[in-house]
Amino acid sequence: MLENLPVVQGDPLWALLHQFNADTRTQKIDMLVGVYRDETGQTPVMQQVQKAELKLAKEAASKSYKMLSGNLEFNDHIAKFVLGNSPRLDEQCTIQTVGGSGALRVLADLIATLSPDAVVWNTEPGYLNHRPIMEGAGLTVSPFRWQHNGGILDIETCFEDLADAKEGDILILHGSCHNPSGVDPLIEQWQQFIDFCIAKKVVPLIDIAYQGFGVGPEEDAAGLRLFAEQVDLMLVATSCSKNMGLYCERTGAAMVLTSDKAQHQSLRTLLERITRANYSMPPNHGSAVASLLFNDPEAWLDELAVCRNRINDLRIALGQLLSEMDADESLQAVTRQKGMFSMLPLTAEQMMALREKHAIYGMLNGRINIAGLKQEQVNYLANALIDVMK
Ligand SMILES: Cc1ncc(COP(=O)(O)O)c(C=O)c1O
Repeated sequence: MLENLPVVQGDPLWALLHQFNADTRTQKIDMLVGVYRDETGQTPVMQQVQKAELKLAKEAASKSYKMLSGNLEFNDHIAKFVLGNSPRLDEQCTIQTVGGSGALRVLADLIATLSPDAVVWNTEPGYLNHRPIMEGAGLTVSPFRWQHNGGILDIETCFEDLADAKEGDILILHGSCHNPSGVDPLIEQWQQFIDFCIAKKVVPLIDIAYQGFGVGPEEDAAGLRLFAEQVDLMLVATSCSKNMGLYCERTGAAMVLTSDKAQHQSLRTLLERITRANYSMPPNHGSAVASLLFNDPEAWLDELAVCRNRINDLRIALGQLLSEMDADESLQAVTRQKGMFSMLPLTAEQMMALREKHAIYGMLNGRINIAGLKQEQVNYLANALIDVMK
């Protein structure tokens, strides 16, 4: 068997991380990995998570198997968190998954089972794992450009590229804090995507992995909720990795919305069959923690606001400095972008120069994680950007 083993390229991100760790320059800045960092450079466990874990450790009575759909209480909570007080809460079928990635894979398998010829339309640039997950399930993926002018999405370009989308195709949109561009649709642009999906009978798949990292948990779900008001069938992948900092606990959910309630039981059974054949059921710990946070959310939401405000303050500080330095408008757009990521308008050579001359590590395609920055480093970064763009 192993004589057929091909040479497989490693993930460039992890190779770069090794390079960063080996870099001995004291001023080095890691803007690579997609995790939140605080002002000390740590990815802390949220206090409310720690509190919940202590409670669970004291009270947990059994480690017996849970349901195939995972933690049912968690599923109810996360559906409410995502949909708000929508009447469509009655029309969702949600299962707990192994993080947001697991949700994407379960939904991909669902699409491949029910509609194998569907083309999945995916933003370019986009989340690095969308294509492999969809293709891993046997689906065909087509890109559409996700460009911006001064931080505002160029939606005409999107629709140019989506012109060939046909009935039954899938449109992946990021619920908020688009990875990697940080460019989210304006609410009127969300409406244009809804009109497009209705007119073309295209099924939306909203991947909302950063709810609460942009403007706030409610605001960040506004586009998704507008979709839910107007489109009957929609798919949602969500994750507690970022907004609860539960990264390694692999806590997320896959949701299908349809008003045809007669189909809910079959839908749930099919979703469960998919997970059963993959990993049986998701781990419980993260969802048990998340349920405790959802039960009494105020203190957790305050902690989440601290993360969000830190990122937004960094964006404002960097944008202001770049404006004072008369930097290119395309650079100043960082202030309008949302969430942890931005795409710098730099070539691969300029990104390399940023790394080699200034010890600032971002992806070669221009993606940086703003949360990798400390306030005291903003000046250094702004000067380095001006330098490599000269
Ligand atoms: C857009 C997007 N979707 C999904 C995920 C997957 O999240 P998880 O770590 O919960 O699998 C990520 C993680 O970076 C992401 O950026």
